[in-house]
Amino acid sequence: MSSISEKDNVKMKKNLFLALEGIDGSGKSTQVKLLADYLTNAGHKVYTTFEPTDSRIGCVIRDIFNHKMEADHRTIAGLFVADRLNHLLNKTDGMLKKMEDGFTVITDRYYFSSYAYHGAHIPVDWVIEANSLSAGLLRPDLNIFIDISPETGMKRLHKGRTSMELFENIENLTLVRNKYFEVMEKLKSQEKIYITDGNRPPEAIAADIRTEISNMV
Ligand code: ADP
Ligand code: TYD
Repeated sequence: MSSISEKDNVKMKKNLFLALEGIDGSGKSTQVKLLADYLTNAGHKVYTTFEPTDSRIGCVIRDIFNHKMEADHRTIAGLFVADRLNHLLNKTDGMLKKMEDGFTVITDRYYFSSYAYHGAHIPVDWVIEANSLSAGLLRPDLNIFIDISPETGMKRLHKGRTSMELFENIENLTLVRNKYFEVMEKLKSQEKIYITDGNRPPEAIAADIRTEISNMV
């Protein structure tokens, strides 16, 4: 019987779907980069992405957040449902296609962001139901929640910006963080969730995430 060569071993690595979650300024994009570097070195083909996307639907969402257009919470939640389905299903660079092509996909935000950000204002069960198609199509191998206080989030946002988006204020970030915890508890039997303390240096957080996923890579 022939032994498995190193090359075959690399090919056999299961590609993962990982979602980074947290309130604004929690350090998601920083950790996406560190995780992508680590997984690339571990032999994965890595595709990184984010929501809201830069599709036409995502642009409408950004117009609302940048005060160029007004919309009700229910409309915003619906736009995110559409943006997410397109993020999954579009034929050129949709996440399902990337998964089929063998990429490990890391997304900066996925449906837990909808549960927390919209569930803070409209019934969360409706938001979960509205996203059930996405959950049925692709469920993260791990949802990684980076926890920081709303005060820290606001301080980090202020550092890099001159203006704030709609809903970027301490009251809303507090509601959103609480809703994240409520929904993570509610869905803990059907979702894989890892919570890490984001009030530490980026490398310490990255090391914890690596340890958590080490049995998957
Ligand atoms: P997010 O994508 O969650 O909004 P970012 O990764 O863009 O967060 O980080 C927001 C800001 O905080 C950036 O200026 C970034 O350099 C800084 N930052 C990220 N992670 C940390 C950390 N662990 N400690 C201190 N500052 C951080
Ligand atoms: P993002 O660009 O990730 O902001 P940040 O880097 O500051 O975290 O996301 C923009 C905003 O979109 C952010 O405030 C969270 C919000 N959002 C929702 O309200 N619902 C969603 O489903 C998603 C994915 C994001």
